[in-house]
Amino acid sequence: MSVAAIVLAAGLGTRMKSSLPKVLHPLAGRPLLAHLLDTLSCLSPQEVAVVIGPEQEAVAKLAAPHRTVLQTERLGTAHAALQAKPVIGDFPGDVLILFGDTPLVTSDTMQRLVARRREADDPAVVVLGFRPDDPAGYGRLVLGTEGLLRIVEVKDATEAERTIPWCNSGVMAVDGRILMALLERVDNQNAKGEYYLTDLVGLARAQGRICAMVEGEAEELLGINSRSELAEAEDILQRRLRDQAMANGATLIGAETIFFSWDTKLGRDVVVGPSVVFGPSVVVEDEVEIRAFCHLEDCHVAKGAVVGPFARLRPGAQIGEEAHIGNFVEIKKSVVEAGAKVNHLTYIGDARVGAKANIGAGTITCNYDGFGKYLTDIGKGAFIGSNSALVAPVKIGDGAIVGAGSVVTRDVPKDALSLARGEQRDIEGWAARFRESKSKNKKG
Ligand code: UD1
Ligand code: MG
Repeated sequence: MSVAAIVLAAGLGTRMKSSLPKVLHPLAGRPLLAHLLDTLSCLSPQEVAVVIGPEQEAVAKLAAPHRTVLQTERLGTAHAALQAKPVIGDFPGDVLILFGDTPLVTSDTMQRLVARRREADDPAVVVLGFRPDDPAGYGRLVLGTEGLLRIVEVKDATEAERTIPWCNSGVMAVDGRILMALLERVDNQNAKGEYYLTDLVGLARAQGRICAMVEGEAEELLGINSRSELAEAEDILQRRLRDQAMANGATLIGAETIFFSWDTKLGRDVVVGPSVVFGPSVVVEDEVEIRAFCHLEDCHVAKGAVVGPFARLRPGAQIGEEAHIGNFVEIKKSVVEAGAKVNHLTYIGDARVGAKANIGAGTITCNYDGFGKYLTDIGKGAFIGSNSALVAPVKIGDGAIVGAGSVVTRDVPKDALSLARGEQRDIEGWAARFRESKSKNKKG
């Protein structure tokens, strides 16, 4: 027995008040739909059809290689699911129906739904129900001794039905052999004049089949319709990501102030201080310390390095083993080799900092002339004096020393001292004479 899936994502997302389709809004740095499709992949579905609306090419692109089907008119959830007929057909297994705007469902929960579908009593439809604190606009599950009897949308519900605590998450597993036939029989005689997917339950029962409910966690089943629900989902996901990082052996100080990306990878015995933000594609190896208030994205930090406080690692930053990146340091598209130190107030961009080099406070690699970007190559063991500007393209040889305050525009040989600044001149007594003449003028 195998699994297929239909993901409904054609909704307008009007309440988001956005020009971006709802399912492309990011959670922990990636679109809602990508989260859901990734979770779904754990079930190795044979077919997946994503239902999109007109002018949603960007959604189709994200869904690829899964097939997308177009729902030209948004006539309701059953109508949307029916558009998947050319992809799913009369599937000889279980068809999971998922909502693109409900991305926090776990693969465990999807598995449980499918497992219930396969039990001996052979329920035609298994609905994932839950009991939210505020049932508000959710459809209600009418349960009886024979399991799930029907689903009633709030707008069509009686006063009594509205008091039912069991709600429809929208997620369901359906007997693939009868799904399309049932969908074709759904009508739109209801308060909203829409084709309701929820009518499948009543229709299956009318054919003498039973239906069932599996209970899920309200947290997993949050449907995202507005920006505030998006923020709520972000909270839930961040909590999951923090728990995962800690379970893998990282210490998070002030965990609730640390923000992860969906793909952040932290090794064992990593310590992360408060208010650190991880953008996408960050890998942090074992025993690294990321101190408070750092911002990292698309970068790699090797074993035992220390970063921050207040450091910014931008795309392409590769920090070597035991290297130190200190406060108010920005690193972009650069390799900082093992044991190098860049500790204070520095910009390193398009550069290599050799092993054990020491970069003084206020060093700037001047990598951009308004047209192109150029490389700075700093040899191993080099020492760059404070407040130096290294004007790229430029190469500082291994073991060279650059005097503080230098503006280096030519390559510096290995082991040389480079001084590129005005020479110091001391004029004896000048300051005293200056003060005297000024105070005389004042009296006069
Ligand atoms: C739906 C359920 C409700 C459930 C709730 C859970 C129905 C009739 N109602 O209501 O029982 O409690 O979800 O969140 O199914 N969509 C399309 N095409 C359409 C209409 C919707 O693709 O023509 C997609 C939307 O993009 C969305 C999903 O289907 O991903 C759900 O649609 P939505 O309008 O949000 O349904 P609800 O009113 O929330
Ligand atoms: Mg909804």
